[in-house]
Amino acid sequence: MKRKVKFAVILVAIGFAVVGLVPFRNHAQTKDGQVVLAKNVFKNLKVLGDMPADQLGKVMNIFSASLNVNCSFCHYTDDFSKDGKEEKDTARKMIAMTFSINKDHFGGETEVSCNTCHNGQMHPQSRPNLVPTEHSAGHTPRPEPPKTKPEASDVIAKFVAAVGGAKKIDSAAITAVRVEPDGKTTEPETVNFKAGKYSAKTTYGKEWVTDLWDGSMAAKFGPDGSHRLHADEAEQIKREAQLLFPSAIGAAYSKFEYRFTGEIDGRKVLVLNATTADGLRERLSFDEQTGLLVRRVAVTPTVLGGFVYQVDYSDYKAFGGVKIPTVVKYAMPNISWTRKISAVKINAAIADDVFAMPKS
Ligand code: HEC
Ligand code: HEC
Repeated sequence: MKRKVKFAVILVAIGFAVVGLVPFRNHAQTKDGQVVLAKNVFKNLKVLGDMPADQLGKVMNIFSASLNVNCSFCHYTDDFSKDGKEEKDTARKMIAMTFSINKDHFGGETEVSCNTCHNGQMHPQSRPNLVPTEHSAGHTPRPEPPKTKPEASDVIAKFVAAVGGAKKIDSAAITAVRVEPDGKTTEPETVNFKAGKYSAKTTYGKEWVTDLWDGSMAAKFGPDGSHRLHADEAEQIKREAQLLFPSAIGAAYSKFEYRFTGEIDGRKVLVLNATTADGLRERLSFDEQTGLLVRRVAVTPTVLGGFVYQVDYSDYKAFGGVKIPTVVKYAMPNISWTRKISAVKINAAIADDVFAMPKS
């Protein structure tokens, strides 16, 4: 039962299981190009009705992560539209308060969100710490940048060299596991790649979910059909296909720009803005010493601040002369998991129907 609930929550995060494939656009749109509002999709919204329906799952996960609680803190999880929990009422007041703080004091920009006060706690602390903790967020000074400003093109060239050069990979069959945040629960994953197409199937007992990029469109589906994908989710499946063999990084983005020198896990990183051909911007961090890509961050705006999607790459290993990260950690508000790759068969024979779109 526990697993079933978790599974449902993951799907909410991904999007509600409305059957049908949607090619990606900025927001879910009706046929005449109007953005679908949350009040037209959900039953009982009193304060969030006017935001795009696309954002609801993200906003709910932002609530859970900001207060460090489960959905059931505010909801009866058999019916999310039901009222009756005091916490849900309080949350409605808090949402209205947060909107008015931003409107009245920050010119309508989402400067303040739930996490600004809650910071991962149910009860925000109004009294300052008497002994400030050494690691309090935001106080770690940035490391010294290199003496000469790094050129983005050099950072990319060093990375491509570090992963074995720009070799073209035609196909690969990858065996992996998805490790849940408890560090113990795992689900088998099979990742197939062929001529730029990508399919990743995760099996949860009798259920399974496949992420697919067929070269022009993304889909997510299981035994019961397709899950509706939001634009940013479709984009991330595409990026998985593009960066599975990371030496192809130059094809995924059309522009790179050095931003600053930072630190991740005690190591100096060079941080670049990378822009796709469609104008979407992501942030890439490269280890200054090894040249390897260690982090990729994409942010999707919501009415209650940015929904951060972070991918951490580590344990690069060589397979058939190309290096790929064998430990990839995915994290977003309230949701995280790690893919651990155990075997990679380069130039494996893979049937074309592995990359066929589901019939919905
Ligand atoms: C801090 C409280 C809080 C948490 C935690 C929370 N929600 Fe909500 N949720 C709300 C409130 C408040 C509304 C109604 C907003 C409104 O009235 O506009 C709502 C509305 C919803 C709705 C719309 C239901 C409908 O049809 O009217 C869904 C679905 C939902 N939440 C799912 C979730 C899921 C899934 C989680 C866990 C990932 C979650 N919520 C976590 C407070 C919360
Ligand atoms: C300006 C600061 C601030 C912001 C912004 C804020 N909160 Fe709060 N929140 C508080 C304070 C203070 C309390 C009272 C805590 C207590 O009673 O100990 C509280 C209490 C709550 C409670 C009740 C907790 C309980 O113990 O029952 C919920 C639920 C809640 N907030 C949700 C939210 C959500 C969701 C957001 C974002 C939409 C949000 N808050 C934004 C300051 C804030």
